[in-house]
Amino acid sequence: MDMTNHETILELKNLDISFESKNQTTEALKDVSFDVKKNEFLGIVGPSGCGKTTLLNAIGGLLSLTSGKILYQDFDVENIGFVFQDSTLLPWRSVIDNIVLPLEIRQKLNKEKFYNKAKKLLKLVNLEKFEKSYPQELSGGMKQRVSIARALISDPLVLLMDEPFGALDEITRNKMNTELNKIWKKTNKTVIFVTHSIPEAVFLSQRVIVLSQNPGTVKEIIEINLPEKRDMEILKNKKYLNYLIQIRKILYA
Ligand SMILES: Nc1ncnc2c1ncn2[C@@H]1O[C@H](COP(=O)(O)OP(=O)(O)OP(=O)(O)O)[C@@H](O)[C@H]1O
Ligand SMILES: [Mg+2]
Repeated sequence: MDMTNHETILELKNLDISFESKNQTTEALKDVSFDVKKNEFLGIVGPSGCGKTTLLNAIGGLLSLTSGKILYQDFDVENIGFVFQDSTLLPWRSVIDNIVLPLEIRQKLNKEKFYNKAKKLLKLVNLEKFEKSYPQELSGGMKQRVSIARALISDPLVLLMDEPFGALDEITRNKMNTELNKIWKKTNKTVIFVTHSIPEAVFLSQRVIVLSQNPGTVKEIIEINLPEKRDMEILKNKKYLNYLIQIRKILYA
């Protein structure tokens, strides 16, 4: 997939982020520059501690930058949705009540309208039958699907995902990846997806940004030339396997 002609939605320019504590400075990210194209699925892969969460938090406006800038093309951080590693659902609220929470907080629309929207999203994430269930009655994969629906209810332009399937077993994770690919195709969102799993990044992404460690810098940006629709068949695809080898080489270099 040649992304060069696609419209740019986000630009990161020479981003530096350091954390100051009493007696030390941690340089989390250094001179990070890349752009994000409208509607693309962008994977970010790198070892633990290389600054992936810091990068997403910066894009989501949750952190101030030490230097550099982030340019948002015709939108602002209000239009960004987050899915965290841990589903962060409220245990005392049912599935559907968790999904409508962001709208409730912003006092948007009327109740009936946003419950209808939540029902559509439950269908999208294949959980129609669980609207009245409580988080503790769901499996880890199901909880993450609820948190994807919750992130989509505000209809964000950009969806940030921080290792959302990191705690799942391999089989469930592969299933979730196939589902996420479908959701991405259906909703047309721009997705920035962070993971330390190389197979997951290649499976999902149109481009993969490879980060190095201490401080995090962009090592390389790899275009993944595979069909947009992805399923388990791809795990045997020679091109797919070659991307895994290529990215491993970069990371272990
Ligand atoms: N609030 C903070 N205060 C001080 N240091 C921090 C803070 N947040 C992150 N760091 C440091 O910044 C670096 C990057 O952390 P970050 O959480 O972004 O890594 P990560 O790539 O998301 O790791 P993981 O894959 O384990 O989630 C680490 O060295 C971490 O210790
Ligand atoms: Mg992290």
